[in-house]
This record gives sequence, structure tokens and C-alpha cells, in this order.
Amino acid sequence: MLLVAGYDTTTTILVYAYHLLSKHPEALEKLREEHNTIFGSDTSVAAARLREDSKVLNNLPYTQAVIKETMRIFPPVAALRAGSQSVELADLYGTRYPTGGCYVVNSHHSIHSNPHSHPDPDAFKPERWIDSGMERGAWRPFERGARSCIGQDVAMIQLKVALMCTIRTFKIEPVYEEWDAMKAKNAKLEVGKAYITSMGRQKDRKEQVGGERAYQVECGGAAHAKEGYPCRVTLLQQ
Ligand code: HEM
Repeated sequence: MLLVAGYDTTTTILVYAYHLLSKHPEALEKLREEHNTIFGSDTSVAAARLREDSKVLNNLPYTQAVIKETMRIFPPVAALRAGSQSVELADLYGTRYPTGGCYVVNSHHSIHSNPHSHPDPDAFKPERWIDSGMERGAWRPFERGARSCIGQDVAMIQLKVALMCTIRTFKIEPVYEEWDAMKAKNAKLEVGKAYITSMGRQKDRKEQVGGERAYQVECGGAAHAKEGYPCRVTLLQQ
């Protein structure tokens, strides 16, 4: 559980952080600036600096905000609870729902998309984590309570370190169009045309969810970007 829960979730958040940053160059620039300020502009010594003084990880507000905002938009899991005769759920209008004999799914995606707690919920805005407080319980990618994720602090550290080690060295961008073209070429199909899947269904090659090509699909333990996130990684000039 420790290995699977700890590996798959963190991986998918890192991929989505790269994705969102590729779509928001101004946020990427701010993130790089923060790392330049804290670790110095010479990326080859940044890891050594971190080893000397790991406390600096507590002093990366923008990095933390990028990670939290990524987890808000693309929470990798949901939480499941066994209902009970003694527990009822109530909606805003006072209607009560028994839970006995049911499983209750706590959908993080829905909670994180609530415009009352997260104004303009579809927008990627790391600043919302810096300037204002957050309604209690409105952000719960690790769930809350007695069974919440025991690896959440490790996850935040891993993600900060991974971003610090990569974000100034590589440019990472999605290449779904190229991926489509490559697949079509291999299958001798015309790019952009609907095609018939092996299940006999007609499918649009450029399918999107909410305008997002890298939408989340179930894969292994956590939700991952569609088709494993075809992307190009370019080494930046140092
Ligand atoms: C971004 C990264 C991660 C996310 C979003 C995440 C999310 C979650 C969630 C939602 C749960 C279920 C909590 C519940 O039902 O109340 C959970 C459980 C758990 N997570 Fe994580 N997790 C992450 C990283 C990690 C890491 C790095 C580790 C270990 C090193 C880990 C170990 C576990 C374990 C052992 C449980 C089961 C806890 C229990 O049943 O009491 N997770 N995680």
C-alpha cells in the first residue's frame, strides 16, 4: 500500500504540474524565479544546496501554491467510506439521505470545482493559495480525518524536490497532435477523422473533456492523463 499509494499519485501530480505550467508560461516563469532566488541560478549546484540545507523546502510559497493548485484541478483519487445506519448526509436544502447499506464516494473533483469555495474554479491560479485563506475542507486531495493520507508530507516534499530539479532544466510540453498523426500513420488512417475502435464504437480522435485533451482517465491506482501524456522534453541551454 505504501509503495503503490506513494508512487502512482505523486507521479500523476508531477505530470499535471508540467502540463499546467506548459499552458501558463507566466506561472512557469514565476516558479523558475522562485527557484533562482532560493537555490541560485546555477542549476547544476541546486541539488547540492538543498542537501546542505533541506529546510529551504519550507520557504517555497509559489512552488507549494503550484502543487496545491495542480492537486485542486486534477485530484488523482477520491475517498470511499462505508455508510452506516447511524450516519445521514444532509444537502443545502435540509433533505437528509441515509447511508446504511451504501458506499459513499467523496468526489474530490466535485468539491474542488465548487465556485463558492474556489472562485473561477476552472482557471489555474496558484495565487489563490498565497493571497487568501481557504474554506475548511474545501481542498482535500489527501482526504481528511483519521484515515487521511499518511504520506501527504512526503508527497509534498517529493513534488517540491522534483520540480526544483527539473523545471529550470527542461521544457516539457504536450504533443497530442503529433501523437495522433503518428498513430494515424501507423494505422494508415487519415488524421482528424473519426475511426472505429476495436470495440466497434465510432470515436473522435481529438476527444476532449472540458476543452482538455490531457483529461484524467482511470489507470492503475490513480487517475492519469489520457494516453499516458504524450509529451516532448527539451533540454534547456544552461
Ligand atoms: C500527491 C500524492 C498523494 C495523494 C493525492 C494521496 C491521496 C490519498 C488519499 C485520498 C488517500 C485515502 C484517504 C482516505 O480514504 O481518507 C490516501 C491514503 C493513503 N496514502 Fe496517499 N496520497 C499521496 C501520496 C502518498 C505517499 C507519498 C504515500 C507514502 C509514502 C502515501 C501513502 C498512503 C497510504 C499508506 C494510505 C492509506 C492510509 C489508511 O488507509 O489509513 N500516499 N492517499
